[in-house]
Amino acid sequence: MKEAIVSKGLKVEIVDSPIPKPNADQVLIKVVVSGSNPKDWKLAELRNVTGNAGDDIAGVVQEVGENVIEFKPGDRVGAFHQVLQPHGSYAEYAIAWQHATFHIPPKTTFEEAAAIPLAAMTAVVGLYGHLGLPQPWTPATESMALVIHGASSAVGAYAVQFARKSNIHPLICIAGKSRPYVETLIDRTKGDVVIDYRDGDDAVVEGLKKASAGLKLLYAFDATSEHNSYATVSKVLDEGAKITGVLPPDNYEFPPRISNSVVLVGNIHTTEKDFGFIYFRYITRALQEGWFKAQPQEVVPGGLGGIKKALEDLKAGKAHAVKYVFRIADTEGVA
Ligand SMILES: NC(=O)c1ccc[n+]([C@@H]2O[C@H](COP(=O)([O-])OP(=O)(O)OC[C@H]3O[C@@H](n4cnc5c(N)ncnc54)[C@H](OP(=O)(O)O)[C@@H]3O)[C@@H](O)[C@H]2O)c1
Repeated sequence: MKEAIVSKGLKVEIVDSPIPKPNADQVLIKVVVSGSNPKDWKLAELRNVTGNAGDDIAGVVQEVGENVIEFKPGDRVGAFHQVLQPHGSYAEYAIAWQHATFHIPPKTTFEEAAAIPLAAMTAVVGLYGHLGLPQPWTPATESMALVIHGASSAVGAYAVQFARKSNIHPLICIAGKSRPYVETLIDRTKGDVVIDYRDGDDAVVEGLKKASAGLKLLYAFDATSEHNSYATVSKVLDEGAKITGVLPPDNYEFPPRISNSVVLVGNIHTTEKDFGFIYFRYITRALQEGWFKAQPQEVVPGGLGGIKKALEDLKAGKAHAVKYVFRIADTEGVA
């Protein structure tokens, strides 16, 4: 099979590799569409990791291990491949653990499914695992303001959709160029707003104060976690507030009145497997019910041959409310 190997310098080499074998608890998936994430360039560039960096899989089950009871060959599935392990989604075939695999409803395309796994799981781990907010099946019954910084990013937009399902309002969202997209996700009748980060940190702080007037600000999900976002949001959080982010704070110390944490989505393959199991199945239901939508996708020309350009664009900050995805059949040399 063809497989793309990413290394430092954002070199992408397409090699011939053997088709992997699933173990007892794994699923072998013939990848139809692979998704990408910022970590795909970061691990190569910042940690010098070489390998098949793709973790978002959408495709058809080819083979299952002996303990796999929910999936069978021919099923349309999405999956979150285990980060830093071999046999990722940048290939014709990929391996996923059964707990991190989910059925794709008939109306959901492979492109949509490939845009979901890693980012959506980051959003739900942040909202429910770290912030302890009400689950969608036991929604909030009173006002509960939540700040979502980076609301148009894949992680942020998924957090907005889940928070809304949990009846958490007002959602005080921060976005920039993709502000119109976030407007389509929020409910203005419940006080939700979007503040533009391009107006500068002082304007964001003023916007946060205005949007939360009369309410306690006790929860923040910082899906940006850079460009001074932790400090900006922290300025308005009340005593006892919780903030969770997606990157470790860089040269910023939170004031003692706030507790902070950082999501590590990879934990759903180690210490938080049950969390992943439950939420991936819930995502199938959410897609089928129609209240949860995939981040808009851009199909990058050339299949695996398009990975280099996509990772360069991600690194350059060119992705605005979009997931770069790759149709494996578009790869040169793939039948
Ligand atoms: N810790 C973990 O387990 C984990 C898991 C997943 C992701 N992450 C990290 O989380 C971050 C987001 O990932 P992603 O996949 O959601 O990214 P993404 O979709 O590629 O993010 C793109 C978005 O970032 C927004 N943005 C850029 N600069 C911003 C700023 N100064 N303030 C607010 N928003 C800004 C842009 O908004 P506009 O278009 O509106 O300008 C754009 O839509 C990345 O750093 C990623 O590495 C961590």
